[in-house]
Amino acid sequence: MTIDIFEDLLKKPSIFKDESKLDINFVPDRLPHRNKELSLLSQLFLILLTNPNEISRKILITGKTGIGKTVTIKLFGELLRKASDRRNISIKYVHINCRKERTSYKALIKIIQSLNKNFPKRGYSPQDLLEIITESLNIQNLHLLIVLDELNYLINKDTDLIYSLTRINDDSFNQPQRLSLIGIVRDISCINNLDISTLSTLQRNIIRFSDYREDQIFDILKYRAEISFREKIISDELLTMIAEIVFNKGDVRYGLNLLWKAGKIAEGRNLRSISSECIRLANQDLVPFSTLDVLKDMTDQKLIFLLAIIILIKKSKNSVTTFSEFLDYYKVLCENAGLKPKSNSQLWNYLQEFKKEDIVSVRQQSKNIVGRKGFIEITNIPLQKFEKIIINILNSKGIRI
Ligand SMILES: Nc1ncnc2c1ncn2[C@@H]1O[C@H](COP(=O)(O)OP(=O)(O)OP(=O)(O)O)[C@@H](O)[C@H]1O
Ligand SMILES: [Mg+2]
Repeated sequence: MTIDIFEDLLKKPSIFKDESKLDINFVPDRLPHRNKELSLLSQLFLILLTNPNEISRKILITGKTGIGKTVTIKLFGELLRKASDRRNISIKYVHINCRKERTSYKALIKIIQSLNKNFPKRGYSPQDLLEIITESLNIQNLHLLIVLDELNYLINKDTDLIYSLTRINDDSFNQPQRLSLIGIVRDISCINNLDISTLSTLQRNIIRFSDYREDQIFDILKYRAEISFREKIISDELLTMIAEIVFNKGDVRYGLNLLWKAGKIAEGRNLRSISSECIRLANQDLVPFSTLDVLKDMTDQKLIFLLAIIILIKKSKNSVTTFSEFLDYYKVLCENAGLKPKSNSQLWNYLQEFKKEDIVSVRQQSKNIVGRKGFIEITNIPLQKFEKIIINILNSKGIRI
């Protein structure tokens, strides 16, 4: 290497053509093996183009994690917007992630801000906000398609927003229908918490996304590799190997991240293409992306409780730990951090949420809460790494344990 390291680095051919196309939030132009779902959605929403504002569509999407629900709906929203633009019909699409927004109020503000960017965040009641939405839609002569992604997070807290949004046009008979709704949930059983009439509205149109087969995952990863890497960077054999790993994990995000990481490792080693060793190393180093996403949006107390679980599991090495031992340790951590601990029942709820989010699994329980014994297991992520990630997140929020 000459002394001009930047020139040398710039001369070195990169493995990537465009690494942002492996980003899990990137929406590609094509979605292999989701054409059926896209065309079903288009048929259902065609009426918004042929008979604008005559009908309000309400749809529920369901299917396991990491199988393209969000990305399919985002691409569909984009296609619908383009088709409406070409016909001079005003349709807007707003995508709300209920896990990130956390409350109905925040979700409503986000909806309004999609209509009016400068709308203030505070100072209104939810009822005001609903009226403002109806009014803005009328003034702008607009149809709004609202997507409530990860809707289960809202359903578990309060169902008023969903109730109001599904009813927004109900009392205006013969008036323009200006709002359509797509809800996305992983587990359909969560909608049973809704009131009967909302439930029946949503149950009328459910689209179930099926899991991908291994060969389908291969096609998806091959396409994403094609648009992200230069030519001949990764062989079909290696893509088959990754498809198998991803199939077992069930989340395409893991495959995208694995490809990216393997590419970076290959570059770091000055290789011209990705080798199986790069994939093996990348696989050792990865935390499932869905988990990282969940951690980033988790409240401080919940993170500390999770940290307590991880540290105790690490210490106990396979021996059974009672729920009360986790509680005690959590309280110690809270004290260190100068925070007031949450109640036992709240912590029990956290544990149930961890199970749902697939962070921990609990194998066995006995009856009363505090004495409850259970094998709490964490199999997805190496504990050491998990602990470090949580401590980093807490530190970044100014909390020292
Ligand atoms: N058919 C496909 N073609 C290309 N990329 C895909 C396809 N299906 C999924 N992906 C990619 O896989 C990742 C996971 O998909 P997505 O985020 O849509 O999952 P999801 O079903 O919404 O999962 P979750 O329930 O965890 O939110 C995304 O980065 C997405 O771009
Ligand atoms: Mg999603």
